[in-house]
Amino acid sequence: MSETFEVVIIGGGPGGYVCAIRSTQLGFKTACIESKSTLGGTCLNVGCIPSKSLLNLSDSFNKAKKNFSNLGITTGEVTLNLSKMMKAKEKSVTILTKGIEFLFKKNKVTYIKGKASLRSNNEIAVQGNNSKKIYKANHIIICTGSESTSLPGVKIDEKIIVSSTGALSFDKVPKELVIIGGGYIGLEMGSVWKRLGSNVTVIEFLDHIVPGMDKDISIEFLKILKKQEINFELNSKVTSVNIINDKAIVDYTSNETNVRKRIQVDKVLVAVGRKPNTEGLNLNKMSIKSDKQGRIQVDNKFQTSIKNIYAIGDVIKGPMLAHKAEEEGIAVAEIIAGQSGHVNYNIIPGVIYTSPEVASVGKTEQQLIKENIKYKIGKFPFMANSRANISGRKN
Ligand code: NAI
Repeated sequence: MSETFEVVIIGGGPGGYVCAIRSTQLGFKTACIESKSTLGGTCLNVGCIPSKSLLNLSDSFNKAKKNFSNLGITTGEVTLNLSKMMKAKEKSVTILTKGIEFLFKKNKVTYIKGKASLRSNNEIAVQGNNSKKIYKANHIIICTGSESTSLPGVKIDEKIIVSSTGALSFDKVPKELVIIGGGYIGLEMGSVWKRLGSNVTVIEFLDHIVPGMDKDISIEFLKILKKQEINFELNSKVTSVNIINDKAIVDYTSNETNVRKRIQVDKVLVAVGRKPNTEGLNLNKMSIKSDKQGRIQVDNKFQTSIKNIYAIGDVIKGPMLAHKAEEEGIAVAEIIAGQSGHVNYNIIPGVIYTSPEVASVGKTEQQLIKENIKYKIGKFPFMANSRANISGRKN
């Protein structure tokens, strides 16, 4: 007979594992199904955590190499041992993913390994390594996250043309690196590899970087990154990437002048956004509605078109951020428990962990103008901030 749970969560990323823990805290018999070999989803395994680890490690390397001698710190020659650096990153990932397994045990969440698909309103089939099992659930929560997208004609092979996953594990520093997309991933990974010695060129379709952030931030941020000698080709459309003799030939055209350009590089990182990951869930057969971008449609209680099936995190609308998914995970568990779970979408911060780190919260000036909302502008330069000055982060 199949085991029955009050709540079954599909996906063990930040949305799913936080939801699972909250759900057992609220007294529900809860299971979390995860298809990958470790818990933590994209964020812990191939996203936030390894990228922040590399940002931190590459920043230390860069400071030791470039700044120490000016600060009265004498070292021998500073050199890079990339494989050791990668091992340090992997250690952080392992500690944190294992930490979630520990939290599951502590909070009595049943961890089911395998790939889930919906069979009916309250039945889930899980394909494990050798067997398929059916589980029953009163409430099902889909939090299967997102995956990288690419451009037409640009095939990611994770060797020469990579997504963020490949860019977290290069076995040597690429001499020349092109990044398609000047958003969160492009600028964080561009900073990492620039600090470690690559010549980095970011090709961005729009005439400015980080389109979701305030224009003032975007302009200042671009100036700072240019000072760090990252090259930018803005307002440019990549038309093809071909691999010839283990090199990538990137063709792109200026949107303004139509001038065509070509650049030959060792590696290309495609960072043009992510799409919801719903493959294999059986959504169509279950008549669970999605929008044009493939995001599962939910109401303000995270309910899909089937009442007892919910969705949260990157598979629904809103910014694809781990902390947004976590908040939704807590809220949906509380809603199922009859409480007033709620997420305030107006105050979700966004941070790009470059140097300096760039953060934003709330509406941008451009949004306020569009929505006809009165506002006041206040500015304070880092240059005049004592802490920024002391720590050498005046811009
Ligand atoms: P993104 O949406 O941040 O940036 C994509 C960029 O690619 C945009 O600037 C866009 O204009 C550009 N673009 C789109 N099509 C293009 C084309 N054909 N040619 C050139 N440029 C093109 O997406 P990204 O960087 O892939 O990140 C995905 C998600 O991951 C984001 O939604 C972000 O929320 C999340 N993330 C968050 C991080 C954080 O919180 N620190 C770190 C990394 C990712």
